[in-house]
Amino acid sequence: MNYPRSNAYDPDFVRANMMGPNAMKLLEELSGSLALKPGMRVLDLGCGTGLTSIFLTKEFGVTVFAVDLWINATENYQRFKEYGLDDRIIPIHAEAHDLPFAEAYFDAAVSIDSYHYFGHEDTYLDKHLAPLIKPGGQIGIAVPGFLREYGENIPDEISPFVKPDYNFHSHEWWKALWSGSNLVKVQTSEHLSCCAESWDDWLSCDNEHAVSDREMMKAEGGNHFSIVGLTAVRI
Ligand SMILES: C[S@@+](CC[C@H](N)C(=O)[O-])C[C@H]1O[C@@H](n2cnc3c(N)ncnc32)[C@H](O)[C@@H]1O
Repeated sequence: MNYPRSNAYDPDFVRANMMGPNAMKLLEELSGSLALKPGMRVLDLGCGTGLTSIFLTKEFGVTVFAVDLWINATENYQRFKEYGLDDRIIPIHAEAHDLPFAEAYFDAAVSIDSYHYFGHEDTYLDKHLAPLIKPGGQIGIAVPGFLREYGENIPDEISPFVKPDYNFHSHEWWKALWSGSNLVKVQTSEHLSCCAESWDDWLSCDNEHAVSDREMMKAEGGNHFSIVGLTAVRI
């Protein structure tokens, strides 16, 4: 797949703000399964430095509530102001289990490279995220995962690198988790094709975390990792 929209952004700006595999490319691919329309109110959950919030606003004309835990709201506000988007992106510092929004407030929610930190819990979706979405609205996530489910048997070559809190799983595992929901119906579940390219973009950064991920990706060798894409509609 080509990423014409992501590739149109200043590569230095993107590299300086990446926190993992190129979030814009993950979202560009995932958005092929999302019906985003101008004027919609969208939750960007675990937005990090807000690359995806900028992308959503500029590419789809939506208003974004950019929620993150590790990156504070003032820093993101500054970035959105510099981009001239502070009237359409609202930066919020919040924890994913304590989201400060009304029920059925959002037309859609996306979560890019962050949902695996909290959404692997089997009660998370119905308790914390799905109630915030209007009936008929969509939820889309893209998370690092595995091409196949390993359970406890993570292959030796990658086990030193894959920490338990990574919560890497196959797309079938994620689909099964969401299929237990009473509030959403799964629409798509797949391995996205942006995996290698989005990781390469991240490894090319001089960010210390990117540098330390280079060894992991060498060991992985294109044999195990995936970017899992999942979409569902609120019933
Ligand atoms: C690897 S970064 C990805 C950031 C961004 N989505 C991107 O792809 O560039 C993971 C993000 O998940 C967020 N996160 C992790 N646990 C969270 C939680 N419990 N509540 C809210 N955000 C959380 C972190 O704040 C962090 O910014």
